[in-house]
Amino acid sequence: MQFSVGLGLTNACNLECAHCYRPRGQIYNLTLSQVQLICDAVDVKSVGLGTGENGLNPEFFEIIGFLRGRRIPVTLASNGYTVQNTPDEILASFREIEFSIDFPEEKEQDAFRGQGNWRRILSGIERCRRVGVAVSILAVLMNINHAQLGKLAKTAASFGCNLRVNLFQPVQSGAYLPSYRQFWEAFRILFDSAAVLSCSEPLVNTFCGMNTRHGSPCGRSSIRITPLGEVLPCVYWPLRTVGLKELVLSGEDPRDSASFREAQRIPEACLACEFVENCRGGCRSRAWLLDRKDLPDIYCPKLNGEDFRLAPCISSADPLLRAGSICTTIVRG
Ligand SMILES: C[S@@+](CC[C@H](N)C(=O)[O-])C[C@H]1O[C@@H](n2cnc3c(N)ncnc32)[C@H](O)[C@@H]1O
Repeated sequence: MQFSVGLGLTNACNLECAHCYRPRGQIYNLTLSQVQLICDAVDVKSVGLGTGENGLNPEFFEIIGFLRGRRIPVTLASNGYTVQNTPDEILASFREIEFSIDFPEEKEQDAFRGQGNWRRILSGIERCRRVGVAVSILAVLMNINHAQLGKLAKTAASFGCNLRVNLFQPVQSGAYLPSYRQFWEAFRILFDSAAVLSCSEPLVNTFCGMNTRHGSPCGRSSIRITPLGEVLPCVYWPLRTVGLKELVLSGEDPRDSASFREAQRIPEACLACEFVENCRGGCRSRAWLLDRKDLPDIYCPKLNGEDFRLAPCISSADPLLRAGSICTTIVRG
């Protein structure tokens, strides 16, 4: 089985974004030898770098060189800092760079992320274009930007980019959690302005009638390694889980660990639902984070006494590398 592997090379960051899930306090870095261990233990389909600003890992360039040597496609989520500090020749080796933008305009983006962030990203996009690396915009759906996703998809398209939308997860606090109404309103607005390239978000694809029958990819085809060396089914997973060394020493398939099985467990209340084969109970990390581990996803329309279908325009473009590695929706405005 091939895995999409998410690596958090560090939890250090140059920014202090209020919504961010990365652990604060002590800084941890994955080492080159840990990354080598992972690549020997797991059949790696692709690597996605997230969690902190990865260029702050002291062995960042060595690790990228190693992954390149193994011919593993690597994508990087960045606020622009790592891209700015990466030479052209190394930048050119990435399969895709995802720049994080949560608002369609400079003023709001900089107010949320820090002065100069918008311009740094714009010059990063320009450089990626020059060296021939694909670029997308990565946004988090929150209760403060839910009405702006359509506009953001247009902004991304004006940069020549797809927009990837992930959902805010209440890891450090619930302050930015969209309500049920805001969640569905956001997708209605988004789909009015943009065509869907892929959607692995289980509830959204279910109520768009996409019928992928996958549920969440977390714990199934995707694994995450934290800067501390923990192996998780999903970056937002709140439970203690198996460590990298234990995993390698035991030779166990990570999907057989208790945490991974739990990430795929369907809540009993969902078992009789007509949609269960497709949504499989929605996001289990969110359920655990909200202390609802045995209950359906808070964004489930059936749970909220509703039944409807969204009918987005679905693009027939080629499958995207990171389309199914996390719960995400990728659109083109
Ligand atoms: C954690 S950052 C790490 C990479 C880089 N520093 C950046 O800003 O893109 C990766 C992505 O996760 C998003 N993110 C942060 N906290 C989140 C949360 N609580 N729920 C969902 N996404 C979150 C960020 O907005 C960003 O798009």
